[in-house]
Amino acid sequence: MTNPILLLRWIIRIAGIVALGMGLAFWGGSGSALLSAHQGLGSLVSIALLLMAVLGFSRGVAPGLLGLALVWSLVVPAIGVMQFRLLPGDLHWIIQVFHLLLGGGAIALTEIIAGRALKGQAVAA
Ligand code: HEM
Repeated sequence: MTNPILLLRWIIRIAGIVALGMGLAFWGGSGSALLSAHQGLGSLVSIALLLMAVLGFSRGVAPGLLGLALVWSLVVPAIGVMQFRLLPGDLHWIIQVFHLLLGGGAIALTEIIAGRALKGQAVAA
């Protein structure tokens, strides 16, 4: 697989789904020993999204979408490392839902950018 867009897409698919599964397990009250692995996979997803956004610029993807992805790739780990300190107590579920949406959004954004970048590549070829 020499196309970096395809490679990044698969990295995010696999790491993202595993991170999501771990996160849902934490939510259900188990698997907390896997928190470092979850943070590592989540960070991998963020880095891959950042790279995907950078590659998208030369492949005809809308700059607004790529800008959103760049910001998103920084916000996901920023919220992740502060997760325990944000709204501790009864309202912490708001942060948990926000974190879930950010993580799921990172996976969705990658899929959208990859689809458009691959289309842009095919048109240019
Ligand atoms: C694709 C990226 C990610 C996905 C899909 C994801 C998903 C989730 C989900 C569903 C939970 C359970 C609900 C919650 O507690 O918020 C969770 C928990 C957590 N995640 Fe992530 N996450 C991602 C990235 C990250 C990153 C990058 C970090 C840190 C650098 C991180 C740190 C944490 C922490 C500390 C918890 C436990 C928080 C708590 O129990 O309040 N996550 N994650």
